[in-house]
Amino acid sequence: MTAVRTSPVIASPGKSVLFITLGITDKPESYAKVIEFATGFSALLRSMQNRFYGENFNALMGIGSDAWDKLRPGKPKPKELVSFKPIQGPKHTAVATPGDLFFHIRADRQDICFELAAMINELLGEVTYFIDEVNGFRYLDGRAIIGFVDGTENPDESDKNEFALIGDEDPEFRYGSYAFTQKYLHNMQAWRKLPVEEQEKVIGRRRFNDIELSDDEKPATAHNNVSKVYDLDGNEMKIIRANVAFSQASKNEYGTFFIGYSRSFAVTHQMLKQMFSGNAEGHSDRLLDFSTPVTGTLFFIPSPEYLDEFDA
Ligand code: HEM
Repeated sequence: MTAVRTSPVIASPGKSVLFITLGITDKPESYAKVIEFATGFSALLRSMQNRFYGENFNALMGIGSDAWDKLRPGKPKPKELVSFKPIQGPKHTAVATPGDLFFHIRADRQDICFELAAMINELLGEVTYFIDEVNGFRYLDGRAIIGFVDGTENPDESDKNEFALIGDEDPEFRYGSYAFTQKYLHNMQAWRKLPVEEQEKVIGRRRFNDIELSDDEKPATAHNNVSKVYDLDGNEMKIIRANVAFSQASKNEYGTFFIGYSRSFAVTHQMLKQMFSGNAEGHSDRLLDFSTPVTGTLFFIPSPEYLDEFDA
């Protein structure tokens, strides 16, 4: 499957990243304004790409389920777009939090991310309200803030479209994607106290060089065991993870902004169920003993072509 225009969904996590979640104020003129903005979003990006050529700038826009119903009444809706419901496991909960609009902005420089964020605020500020904004960064050699390289088992370049972009199963929304976001806070005190060999058993890989632990070494509760999902034929189902670290160290805040793009939200949902409620063998994810999600929201990312016609 080849996309008509390259979707930023499949881009690498990036060096500087902004994740912005907004609500839409519930007035008819607000929805009209958002529709106008969405229709012009590609033009805004073209201008930014032209201004900041060579800085790996890209951005995409997502829409939550409730907002979709208000922005596109009576029009088709992506098949799997619903409001995320919390997943309550025996020990840990994947919370559900609101969000109407979502922006994922990436570039080599933080000021470029800010530039688009400020424009979004200028154009939409009067009809939206703040829910969340996270300033993420590439940490060392692509590590999560807990010190492990993150993203290794993402799909290869050649498989990315297949796992992340909608195809014939929902033709109206072809080349769109589902983005599931969770802002995690880590208990860094407890994590630092854990010897490196024990941390490695939590993740399932070596901390220094990212080598995967052997089956004998890896406990059933390791993150990379519990998060693996297979289809009925035994093929591994993947999503594109573009997580980055964020922190206000002096406030003792250390986090991972998790974002998983998928062709079918069912795959991400199954990963979450296994992590929080337990997999088929009843094992849940040890990583959650040190990491707590404080948000959880599902968005649909329309293809650039779909957004261009958003006012139709
Ligand atoms: C605190 C949040 C999280 C952190 C710090 C984290 C970190 C990591 C790390 C370090 C790896 C190993 C390297 C790699 O293959 O990328 C990994 C693997 C993986 N993670 Fe996460 N992750 C988090 C949350 C999640 C969530 C919420 C999901 C799914 C909904 C998920 C799905 C996966 C998958 C599918 C793999 C690859 C497993 C494999 O095939 O080896 N992760 N993660």
